Amino acid sequence: MNVLVVGSGGREHALAWKLAGDPSVGEVHAAPGNPGIAHAATCHPVRADDAEGLLSLCLARRIDLVVVGPEAPLVTGIADVLRHGGIAVFGPGADAARIEGSKAFAKDVMRAAGVPTAAPLEGPHGPCVVKADGLAAGKGVFVCSTQREAEEAWSRAAAFGGEVVCEELLEGDELSVFALCDGVRAVPLPAARDAKRLLDGDEGPNTGGMGAFSPVPGVTEDEVAELVERIHVPVLAELAARGTPFVGLLYAGLMLTPDGPRVLEFNCRFGDPETQAIVPRIAGGLAEPLARAAAGDLSGIEVDASDEAAVTIVLAAPGYPDAPETGGAVEGLDEAEAAGALVFHAGTALRDGRLVGAGGRVLAVTALGDDPADARGRAYAALERIRLPGAHYRRDIAAGGVRVAG
Ligand code: AMP
Ligand code: GLY
Repeated sequence: MNVLVVGSGGREHALAWKLAGDPSVGEVHAAPGNPGIAHAATCHPVRADDAEGLLSLCLARRIDLVVVGPEAPLVTGIADVLRHGGIAVFGPGADAARIEGSKAFAKDVMRAAGVPTAAPLEGPHGPCVVKADGLAAGKGVFVCSTQREAEEAWSRAAAFGGEVVCEELLEGDELSVFALCDGVRAVPLPAARDAKRLLDGDEGPNTGGMGAFSPVPGVTEDEVAELVERIHVPVLAELAARGTPFVGLLYAGLMLTPDGPRVLEFNCRFGDPETQAIVPRIAGGLAEPLARAAAGDLSGIEVDASDEAAVTIVLAAPGYPDAPETGGAVEGLDEAEAAGALVFHAGTALRDGRLVGAGGRVLAVTALGDDPADARGRAYAALERIRLPGAHYRRDIAAGGVRVAG
C-alpha cells in the first residue's frame, strides 16, 4: 500500500519513519514534509491545508491511505474532501474533528456521553482554568490561581478571537491516552505523559509540549484499556449517534485526580511530542491498523508495544514559545544518532544545503532503554551532541517520582 503523511512536524516524521519500515507499505509520501521526513518519504510541496492539491497528489501517486498529522486541516475538513474523492483517510471529518476544534462542543459531547471532566465555571474567577474555545496550538490555556490572574488570562484568551471558556482547576498527574478509532471501536495505543510547561519543575507557560515519555510508570496496559472503555468508547458512540462518526486517532488528555480520571481535552489527532515516544515502542506494523480504522473495520486488531521505555526531549528555538527565532544552524544530528537516539525533525529547513531551525520546536530526540531512567540518560546524552545557538530544552523530562492517583 502507498501512504501519504500530511504535515511537517516531529509527529509526522515519527509516523513516516514507522511506515517506511513497514513491510506492508510500498511508497511513503509526505506533504509538505520536512528535511528529516525526506529521509523516510518522498516530500511534495503541497500544503497540509490544500485539500484539492492533496487530492490531486493522491490520484497522481496512487495513494491508498492518507494519514493526517495536524488538527487544523482536519478541523477545516480535508478528510471530507479526500474521502469524497475516493481516498481512504486516517483522520476525522470536520464535524467529528470539532471534538478538538471547539472546547464547548467537546464539553457538550462529554456531558451527553457521561464522561468525567472539569466542571464549567461562569468565568473568570480564580482559581480556575481559562481557555480560548478554538484551536490555539496548545497556547490558549491559562491555569490561574487568583482572581487577578483569571481576569488577565481572560483577555489573553479572548485575543485568539473566539469564545472564552472557564472551568474548575483540577490537580493531579496528566496522562495522554490514544486510541485508533473506526467510528465505533477504539484500539488503545501505549499511553504517554507529556510535559506541557516550558520550564523545569512544570513552571512557566503552557507550550505545544516540551517532551514526553512512554510507558508511564504506575499505569498498566490493562488500566489504559479500561480508560479507553470508559472514555473513548462512549464518546465514539455519542458522535456516531449525532451522525458524525469519528475515524482516526482520538486523544484524551486526562488528569488523574484523587477522585479518579477526568478529561481535560480531546484532540482529534496524534499528540506531539507523545507520538515520537509512542511510535518507536510499537511492535509490528502501523499501516494495517491505520488502514483498517480508515476502512471502518478495526475488528480483531490489537497494537502491541515493546517493554522498552521511550523518552523524548524537544529542542526548542531561542524565544519559543512567544517569538521563536528561526534560521540558526542546526548541527550534530549524526552524532546524536550515532549515540543511539532517533532524531525527529519538528521545525527544520534546508537553506543553501545547511540545516536550519524553521519553527518553535526544532527537533524531538527519542531514546529507548530498558527502563525510563535508562532511556532518559540516552536521550539527554544524544541531545547534548546537537548544536543550535540559543536553543533550550527541559532538563527534567521523565525525571523524578510519579504519583499515581485515581
Ligand atoms: P488543554 O488544551 O485543554 O488540554 O489544556 C492544556 C493543558 O492545560 C493541560 O494539559 C493541562 O496541563 C492544563 N489544563 C487544562 N485544563 C485544566 C484543568 N481543568 N485543570 C488543571 N489543568 C488544566
Ligand atoms: N502534546 C500535546 C498535544 O499534542 O496536543
